[in-house]
Amino acid sequence: MREPWIVGVSGASGTPYAKEVLTALLDAGESVDLVVSRAARLTLLDETGATVRDAHWKDDVAAWLGRDLGDLAYWPAGDLAAGPSSGSYPARGMVVVPASTAACAGIAIGLSKDLLQRAAEVNLKERRRTVIVPRETPVTRSHLEHLIALHDAGAVVLPASPGFYGSGAGATAQQLIDFVAGKVLDALGVPHTLFRRWAGDLGEGRA
Ligand SMILES: Cc1cc2nc3c(=O)[nH]c(=O)nc-3n(C[C@H](O)[C@H](O)[C@H](O)COP(=O)(O)O)c2cc1C
Repeated sequence: MREPWIVGVSGASGTPYAKEVLTALLDAGESVDLVVSRAARLTLLDETGATVRDAHWKDDVAAWLGRDLGDLAYWPAGDLAAGPSSGSYPARGMVVVPASTAACAGIAIGLSKDLLQRAAEVNLKERRRTVIVPRETPVTRSHLEHLIALHDAGAVVLPASPGFYGSGAGATAQQLIDFVAGKVLDALGVPHTLFRRWAGDLGEGRA
């Protein structure tokens, strides 16, 4: 039985994190179901020039990722009858990367305004592994309260907050993106080689 990871891309800055997570999951031989929110089409276009159109998703997603799609399925964000909207649909878990404050709020209160929010809520109610990668700064009290609600519902709240210890102060943007994507894969329990792990040696990142 196919048992994919659901990857939801919402309209926060940080679409390169989504690209790296998708790439690493596919590289690891995992099945992936992709949901891109309407707002995420704008951030994708702004940050990468990529378009994702429901009717042309195969070409568009392959162009965005710059690779063949492996076992990747795509569901339009407006399709509330799609498989991931039901708890009986087999899924290993879900990651929302990046997660907008709107998506965090919607998932936290069970708004289900689109398939991304509904699928995340379903994963939480089914007690499946759910990783939320918020991207906003600074944050308000209500943002924090929504993250606490997500944490209490069983999600791993994993802020897009790269560490520099793996690659040093001269880290490239790609290395910082890989760090966050690697932490996501760690939280999902999927092996990867996205960053150098801390081994207890100060200054290793400069070597
Ligand atoms: C270029 C651009 C960048 C944005 N960056 C962020 C961001 O970093 N964090 C955030 O929470 N919202 C950001 N937004 C606002 C969200 O897109 C907006 O709240 C939207 O309603 C989110 O909808 P979604 O959660 O359905 O994707 C950004 C919007 C645009 C157009």
